[in-house]
Amino acid sequence: MDKLLIEGGTPLRGTVRISGAKNAALPILFATLLHDGPSRIHNLPRLADIRTTTVLLIELGVSVSTKEDRSAILDASGVHSVDAPYDLVRRMRASVLCLGPLLARFGRARVSLPGGCAIGTRPIDQHLRALEAMGADIDLKAGYIEARSPKGGRLTGGSFVFDLVTVGGTEQAMMAAALADGTVVLENCAREPEIGDLADALRSMGAQITGDGTSVITIEGVEKLGPMDHTVIADRIEAGTYMAAAALTHGDVLLMGARMEHLDAVISKMARAGVEVRREGDGLRVKHHGELHAVDLDTQPYPGFPTDMQAQFMALMTRATGSSTITEAVFENRFMHVPELTRMGADIRTRGNTAFVRGVPELSGASVMATDLRASATLVIAGLAARGTTEVRRIYHLDRGYESIEEKLSALGANVTRVSQ
Ligand code: EPZ
Repeated sequence: MDKLLIEGGTPLRGTVRISGAKNAALPILFATLLHDGPSRIHNLPRLADIRTTTVLLIELGVSVSTKEDRSAILDASGVHSVDAPYDLVRRMRASVLCLGPLLARFGRARVSLPGGCAIGTRPIDQHLRALEAMGADIDLKAGYIEARSPKGGRLTGGSFVFDLVTVGGTEQAMMAAALADGTVVLENCAREPEIGDLADALRSMGAQITGDGTSVITIEGVEKLGPMDHTVIADRIEAGTYMAAAALTHGDVLLMGARMEHLDAVISKMARAGVEVRREGDGLRVKHHGELHAVDLDTQPYPGFPTDMQAQFMALMTRATGSSTITEAVFENRFMHVPELTRMGADIRTRGNTAFVRGVPELSGASVMATDLRASATLVIAGLAARGTTEVRRIYHLDRGYESIEEKLSALGANVTRVSQ
């Protein structure tokens, strides 16, 4: 397993190109199943999760050709299976998003239950209830979801109110509804920018979708969808991660491609902490010198502060003047970075889903363990600001969601090397 060695203390300076959004690209790749021909996607990030998704799509019979320019052509005319096996789905939970498209196009699907992960049990009950509201018949057998549409034909129109805001549930239902025989009204939907990007990709195929970005999404099902041609939006969480790294190292960085409107909650928290972020060209300039102010934080569904930035913001707060209270309200176990940050000298106590962070004058390098994607990013951020050397192990977590992280950081002046073991 690879590890990263980081020599801390160098301010990050320069320009970093933000890659396509992982959490937009994943559902969009699955949406290509909805058309029995070729689709083209641009600005795909080069990530392990993208590769895992293409492996599953190829297993189903999709032909995938990726190009040097970060685009790919996926032809779903040859799909010969509606069975997503456990050994593929367990590698990446988002694989469960193939369920809705397979069911909508073929009238049936057999998809392994994804199981939980480090940050929580991650149930998918809302995905299944939404499909049932469109006439699907769902059975759970031996760890698999067995889904069938009425008489093996099209799903029906219907309406569904999500019990809670779920990004994946909203995406699953939108994709299934696109080919339904009728109108589907979804309420209490997630409003993340990735939902809007999936809706744009579906509309490029001829889907009739309105209301994405609000809590009520209406889909007029159509009989057939055409080829997708879509460019994936920039990754707001990757941008937020580099923003935090620039702030913690007292740097000055241009985040090329980052969009202010996708990061409002993060930028306003950064401003409260004393970090200046402003538009520059087609990106965002973040620079920070001097002290950081302690700021309290509650994670919320969009447009609230994103749970995927909670760990990165906590790294900032470990060096702030004063104490901050951070509450993780979306997932039940998303503080695994805390013991590792503590090993680097941070002063953090947790009680349930709340962390109490007291700023310390400095962090010190240590050997730490990555446990999940965003926790690993946070250890890198802390290592960049710490005195001495930090060794971050199990960085396969990082490779799932951050394209070429050591190259991007080195180009900003960081002293980072990947050691393959
Ligand atoms: C997406 O996960 C993202 N992943 C996550 O990013 C992100 O943290 C999360 O949304 C919240 O923004 C992708 O888009 C691939 P949810 P998702 O359904 O869809 C509960 C990262 O680091 N829930 O919005 O799985 C669930 O347990 C990853 O890039 C149900 O109870 O998240 C959680 O507590 C991590 N039943 C809450 O809802 C359901 O049927 C929000 O989950 C579905 C979800």
